[in-house]
Amino acid sequence: MSFLGTDFAGLKLRNPTVLASGILGTNFEILKRVFAEGGAGAVTMKSIGPEERAGHANPSVIELEHGLLNAVGLPSPGFQNMAEEWKELEGRKFPLIASIYGASAEEFATVAREVALHKPEAMEINISCPNTKEHGQIFGVDEEASKEVVSAVKKEIGSVPLIAKLTPQAHNIAVIARACEKAGANAICAINTVAGMSIDVDARRPVLYNKIGGLSGPAIKPVAVKCVYQIFESVKIPILGMGGITTGRDAIEMIQAGASAVGIGSAVYYRGIKAFSLIAEEMQEWMEKNNVKNVKEIVGAAHG
Ligand SMILES: Cc1cc2nc3c(=O)[nH]c(=O)nc-3n(C[C@H](O)[C@H](O)[C@H](O)COP(=O)(O)O)c2cc1C
Repeated sequence: MSFLGTDFAGLKLRNPTVLASGILGTNFEILKRVFAEGGAGAVTMKSIGPEERAGHANPSVIELEHGLLNAVGLPSPGFQNMAEEWKELEGRKFPLIASIYGASAEEFATVAREVALHKPEAMEINISCPNTKEHGQIFGVDEEASKEVVSAVKKEIGSVPLIAKLTPQAHNIAVIARACEKAGANAICAINTVAGMSIDVDARRPVLYNKIGGLSGPAIKPVAVKCVYQIFESVKIPILGMGGITTGRDAIEMIQAGASAVGIGSAVYYRGIKAFSLIAEEMQEWMEKNNVKNVKEIVGAAHG
């Protein structure tokens, strides 16, 4: 019998599948369903920012041949407007990862302080968003900017595990991961979406209202596997691997690259809310066939 239960940065997971941020919002009933009906091991909320934001106009999500392209533009209720959600989340029976963003280290710290009051089991910082001080360059491509955010947030949240979510757009993602580890991150999440564009040739215009978007789903899996493989060789903290995981076999691949748990995002679109339990069952089948008793046995197994 193979065992899927594991722990990740202090969280006890019944299986290694985690809902990725931004896929199903911040609503309690929906997040609860992802756990109860969907079978996820843990659930990440949509990133919460310093103020209410509407996000980009439509079209903001389109389906391409091998993935989704989205420019939802980080719509957020703002941390001040979430009293009702937090109240409902108080009695939850599932591990909750809050996700936050800001335009400066100070904004990240403010949002982190407020969100930590509601005791999420972990806090993910989305450093794949633009830094106003650096003229819109994203935090996660710069070692110093990433470090600054991690230490500012860690100061505010103390013992709450901090997960730094990295962008594949970094020149050397392993260097950024190491900088985050040094600054106090307890885990790394990789990867966020890959920048992309799609053009309607008949209209001669980009399809997305925002023109540029983030690619997710099967098309980015090799990029994600490569990033996780490189990060695993440069840090000691655990990795939440994501990007294109659609089947149990994809999840096993990500774990062999070095992930201790796997994020599921676009697969919810392809396979429905049951994606988590389907992927977990497929992982179990592979493990039984290959005589793997515990998922921990194969973390980083692809490293020679
Ligand atoms: C519509 C959409 C919205 C997203 N919103 C967020 C977000 O708010 N914060 C974040 O850190 N990542 C966000 N992401 C990125 C996902 O969490 C994930 O990193 C990415 O989609 C790769 O995983 P996947 O291929 O399984 O979807 C979003 C992705 C999609 C498709």
